Amino acid sequence: MEKYSSVFGEVESQVRSYCRKFPVEFSKAHNSELFAKDGTRYIDFLDVAGSMNYGHNNPYIKKAIMDYLAEDTIINALDLYTEAKAAFLETMEKQILEPRNLDYKVMCCGPTGTNAIEAALKLARKNKKRTNIFAFSGAFHGMSLGSLAMTTDQTSREGAGVPLNNVTFVPYENKRVDSIEYIRHTLEDDHSGVAIPAAIFVETTQAEGGINVSSVDFLRELRAICDEYDILLVVDDIQVGNGRTGYFFSFERAGIVPDMVVLSKSISGFGMPMSLLLMKPELDIFRPAEHNGTFRGNQLSFVGGKAGIEFFNEHHIGEEVQRKAKIIDEFMKNEIIPIDSRLAYRGIGMIWGIDFMKIDAKKALDCSHACFDKGLIIELAGRHDSVLKLMPALTIEDEVLMEGLEIIKVSVIEVLK
Ligand SMILES: Cc1ncc(COP(=O)(O)O)c(C=O)c1O
Repeated sequence: MEKYSSVFGEVESQVRSYCRKFPVEFSKAHNSELFAKDGTRYIDFLDVAGSMNYGHNNPYIKKAIMDYLAEDTIINALDLYTEAKAAFLETMEKQILEPRNLDYKVMCCGPTGTNAIEAALKLARKNKKRTNIFAFSGAFHGMSLGSLAMTTDQTSREGAGVPLNNVTFVPYENKRVDSIEYIRHTLEDDHSGVAIPAAIFVETTQAEGGINVSSVDFLRELRAICDEYDILLVVDDIQVGNGRTGYFFSFERAGIVPDMVVLSKSISGFGMPMSLLLMKPELDIFRPAEHNGTFRGNQLSFVGGKAGIEFFNEHHIGEEVQRKAKIIDEFMKNEIIPIDSRLAYRGIGMIWGIDFMKIDAKKALDCSHACFDKGLIIELAGRHDSVLKLMPALTIEDEVLMEGLEIIKVSVIEVLK
């Protein structure tokens, strides 16, 4: 049987990308396993780029959606008041925000992460009446022009077709430059040539940038700098929110409160389109319809989102992630690094990377191919795509997790031999 239909090559635009790396036609999925149309099983360490944190076809969330669909309920509703949205907002407030003492207004944005990033950019600039924004080297915030202006990888930027501006890049926490000192110096020096920004946008762990986990001190210093200079701190939690790091919000480990938080990907619980901008109430100054969009009211996303939050709390997903993080960490330390001491690994919660840069970045690609041949779907990230990125569903069974890790081990040995 053909592994995939020729219709993709004949009809679909060549911009398609993931399918080129994993060229089979998928048809079914269960938790952390995908099945191709010929029945071949794959372990999924890609997790639809972090949008299936609670597993494919999570039965609890699926039931909520099926029950909702069984009636003639509202499916899309712009931003009209609906029962499904009321239930989601109440659950968000009672089960996520209140227990964490977070006082945020919730803005329902267009369906993709980048739309909520655009909203955050507009709102930051409107509040502070400044145009400049600080973003970090290695950052990824999305593909629409505002978000792209804060995204660093050259291929994505070249697609813009217009200058990407009004953003100043500063170094993310790293071993060579004291990033906090750099930012402070830039802001203090009235001859730095850099305008004070409206906001600093940060991913507390950079995912696409190569699994760079910032320290708690770094995040606290950023908060302090923002307070000192009246700058807004915006956390992009699109990929590492929803429990990925072992907490619902990734910034919880630092005990900081951002001025705005952006959520998307797994927030709908079931892989459906949804994005949210959370903001401190005093920042909520958009006029009605000033940031608009037809698909801000996907009711299935609200239903899934409510069930996803319930699932997260009832199944103690945060603790579960911290337990599995130890398994992955141990495996990296004891089974991967001994293969070749030039390998490096980094990670937190259930997002990890194996960095091949000191050997040869291309070996990461070879390794992902070797993994795929053995039935594991795994992506690359970072500079020169040198990092093999492990991002299974948070609900992955221990045996499946170990099976995936073993495939990685065998593949690393194979490509480095
Ligand atoms: C951290 C981060 N921000 C923003 C985005 C953009 O989200 P979307 O692709 O839904 O527009 C992504 C997507 O990968 C992301 O990882």
